[in-house]
Amino acid sequence: MSAPDRYAVIGHPVAHSRSPFIHERFAQQSGQNIQYTRIDATPAQFAAAVAEFFRDGGRGLNVTVPHKQEAARLAQELTPRARRAGAVNTLMLRDDGGLLGDNTDGAGLARDLLNNHHIRIAGRRVLLLGAGGAVRGVLAPLLGLKPAQLIIANRTVEKAQELARDFSDLGKLQGCGYAELGSTPYDIVINGTAASLAGELPPLPPTIVERTSFCYDMAYGRDDTPFVRWAHERGVARAVMGLGMLVEQAAESFHLWRGIRPDTASVLSALTAKLREG
Ligand code: ATR
Repeated sequence: MSAPDRYAVIGHPVAHSRSPFIHERFAQQSGQNIQYTRIDATPAQFAAAVAEFFRDGGRGLNVTVPHKQEAARLAQELTPRARRAGAVNTLMLRDDGGLLGDNTDGAGLARDLLNNHHIRIAGRRVLLLGAGGAVRGVLAPLLGLKPAQLIIANRTVEKAQELARDFSDLGKLQGCGYAELGSTPYDIVINGTAASLAGELPPLPPTIVERTSFCYDMAYGRDDTPFVRWAHERGVARAVMGLGMLVEQAAESFHLWRGIRPDTASVLSALTAKLREG
């Protein structure tokens, strides 16, 4: 058998990344001969580590925190969605040796909402929490699903307003602070802040949700995140973590690299089970 095609996820820290687990299963499913590893690189090491990986025959990289913006600067060519996000989570070697940068995060979120959770976005009121890189990456695909209204709330209000301005050509959206959210519940609330990762919660008015709201945390963990717990405590029937987004964005990357769309449902259940085991 010929040597496997090499892929990896690059980040800092990266030891806990679930990407190798996911891509190994995608490859098994479709009989693809690939090897997928982790590369830990600090920001100072990032550019050299990417160059070395591709010089040594690597075919594609997933890029994670904190390198997504730097990866966008490094790529010779960006897909329109990566250019719009200003961030790259997938690098692919072109035939001419240059690097193509893509961003599959937003498509991953949209697929998870639509296909796995059967959530309709069109015509609904959507609230996005946070205005950092994670939210910027998913704004265009979310607006593409034509919500009736999209509000971005952030601790630093100016960042929410700036994002709303940057994407205003794609749909109706507004930026504000948490205190200005008003008292009408939203249909869908998506947490894209980094608060969950620190075990924290943005200062959310309880009036933004009702029992029928759908709450989604882009973060995930072994146990419910503070945002998911907050939603359940307020009587929200459906509050979920973003494990499906992780699997779906990986499937989009796999498709770009290998031209094959893997089955995500079986991998998502395997990953959920693995996470529960700890
Ligand atoms: P990422 O790439 O994960 O989005 P980022 O660009 O640093 O990381 O953005 C982090 C986001 O989480 C920001 O919206 C940040 O709010 P500020 O812009 O006001 O800093 C938000 N965030 C982080 N910790 C938070 C907390 N404890 N409460 C509320 N928001 C928080």
